[in-house]
Amino acid sequence: MARTFAGGVIAFVIAFLASGSAQQKPIDDAALRAPDARNQDWLSYGRDYHEQRFSPLDQINDRNASQLGLAWQFETATDRGLEATPLVIDGVMYTTGSWSVTYAIDARTGKQMWKYDPEVHRKYDNLACCDVVNRGAAIYKGKVYVGVLDGRLVALDMKTGKPAWTATTVDQAQAYTITGAPRIANGKVIIGNGGAEYGVRGYVSAYDAETGKLAWRFYTVPGDPSKPQENKALEKALPTWKGDNWFKYGGGGTVWDSIVYDPELNLLYVGTGNGSSWNRHLRSPGGGDNLYLCSILAINPDNGELVWHYQTTPGDTWDFTSVQPMMLADLPIGGRTRKVIMQAPKNGFFYVLDRATGELLSADKYVEVNWASHVDMATGRPVEIPGADYKDKGTYIRPGPLGGHNWQAMSFSPKTGLVYIPAQDNGRYYEASKMFSYTPLEYNLGLEPIGRNMEKYDIPYKGRLLAWDPVARKPRWTVEYGGYWNGGTLATAGNLVFQGTALGDFIAFNATTGEKLWSGYAGTGIVAPPVTYSIDGKQYVSVMAGWGGAFPKKFRSYGRILTFAIGGTATPITRTAPRRVTAIANNATPDQITAGAKLFASYCVRCHGGATVLPDLRRSAPTVLNSLDKILDGAMVERGMPRFAEFDKTMIAGLRGYLLEERRKLATSR
Ligand code: HEC
Repeated sequence: MARTFAGGVIAFVIAFLASGSAQQKPIDDAALRAPDARNQDWLSYGRDYHEQRFSPLDQINDRNASQLGLAWQFETATDRGLEATPLVIDGVMYTTGSWSVTYAIDARTGKQMWKYDPEVHRKYDNLACCDVVNRGAAIYKGKVYVGVLDGRLVALDMKTGKPAWTATTVDQAQAYTITGAPRIANGKVIIGNGGAEYGVRGYVSAYDAETGKLAWRFYTVPGDPSKPQENKALEKALPTWKGDNWFKYGGGGTVWDSIVYDPELNLLYVGTGNGSSWNRHLRSPGGGDNLYLCSILAINPDNGELVWHYQTTPGDTWDFTSVQPMMLADLPIGGRTRKVIMQAPKNGFFYVLDRATGELLSADKYVEVNWASHVDMATGRPVEIPGADYKDKGTYIRPGPLGGHNWQAMSFSPKTGLVYIPAQDNGRYYEASKMFSYTPLEYNLGLEPIGRNMEKYDIPYKGRLLAWDPVARKPRWTVEYGGYWNGGTLATAGNLVFQGTALGDFIAFNATTGEKLWSGYAGTGIVAPPVTYSIDGKQYVSVMAGWGGAFPKKFRSYGRILTFAIGGTATPITRTAPRRVTAIANNATPDQITAGAKLFASYCVRCHGGATVLPDLRRSAPTVLNSLDKILDGAMVERGMPRFAEFDKTMIAGLRGYLLEERRKLATSR
């Protein structure tokens, strides 16, 4: 009797282990190459090696999305931007937050399993151009790989979160930072870095995933011109640079976001960033394309050798990085199936390239662009509009440095054939610096500070979800948002597209038509891209919420992860109704108010115009409005409120008068 019972238990345990081990196969090369065998998971940054951010899960779909509800929320207890793509494997979510803190969370309940804090020195707050963010981890053979803001690459034990090895990937005396997610290619961990605003030389490195030993490093711009270059590709690049300023200023070309691996062609695609300095006449007086800035590079992942390159913005002078997310697809073009790579970089053109050869197949404007008329298909080069180069005269360029599209991931549905781009309109007044001198560890853009000439122009800061047809080369539909600097997108086989917004709405759209089907409130703005996964047959959609990043940099947000499911029963976050305001005595004259309105429209509306989660100044406390002079003089820069040093007393009085008048209208409107 006892024996039979024990035998039963053993049989049960064996069956349990067998089913467990069937599910918990390690994430090795075979698993990464066959994502469809693990549809329930989100295996790597863009879900799989194609980085299309398309999930075949369809339990949540265009017929039932309206029944989505909050399943759980996890508070990160951080107040800065959250940009990561969570990975989900066997019911566990691995994700990263502000200051490169890494979390393992039960993806069914939202309970924390472990947390790893690399304890980054807080001085990096001023060495990171665009907030202390992190875009996510990579998982391979039992380890979680995270790039740390201070330049470390850490391999954590997937079960415990304890470091297995740490590699320092940068010279920490320079302004290098890591915010991007590592990628896995053939047993190697690939990692880049940022810092080109301050002045560094860009590169991408490969480390042995098991040992943390450096396998190779590819510099994206030449080194000391008086010495032999590290490789043939850099020897070829050298004549495209003039003088030697660029070497003193770092050169730039940092690989701070997109890295994609194609196991079929065994090619690693790397996007490179802007020049150090931005201003090309300071960086490379006398011109030149400045290879390999603002390029897509195809690299052999085994030895780090360049195979082909395509430069989207030769001789960049506007911060038109080409590090924006890239995705791989097979598309019918010109009567045959082409293996393509697609990118919508900052410069406003949507590129489709043959990913085996680098041949340009198409380049089309996807937002308003005024720096180039078109891309010449014979040469593959953009045709610059005269005057777009601000060498002698300042000019207003669209898009500006925030880009027609930035790091916020786009997605592609093979079912609809559409790419869902978090697109945005913006611009910047570019004016060459009159007295430039290079200062280590500080911004070295080579431009006059922003703000001075703004009032001459309307500022078209607007965000939209753009469904782009990469074969027909045109938009199919768009959804206009009040705000810009919105989140990345996710496409699913349920004919859905998900996106979070700057105003904190997390929205499900019909992927074919753009019809809004559902929305949940996140309580804070969203910039991160969502993911979806399933556990025991139940599908979830999850997104990190916490506005921040390049815009605005140090805003105090409220970090959390929100996970939704059909019929989710957790208490939703509700919008608190704004409190009533009372008018404050205003002694400004109508002329002052009119002048203030103009200033507000030029300088403030893009942040305080109600299109983002930033404060509605009509509702600010009287004490705040009374200290407008101090706030405009930099009292709140640590919270992301820029300093407007050029404002004089008259201008501030006008602004205050305008805000008080708007407040009066609000107070009497109900
Ligand atoms: C780049 C975005 C940005 C721009 C442009 C901007 N602000 Fe701000 N502002 C912020 C941020 C971020 C905060 C801090 C929000 C917080 O911590 O809650 C802020 C806070 C403020 C506050 C305090 C509000 C309160 O109730 O606490 C005032 C007043 C203010 N800004 C005025 C202005 C004025 C006037 C202008 C135009 C001259 C302006 N801001 C332009 C981002 C911006």
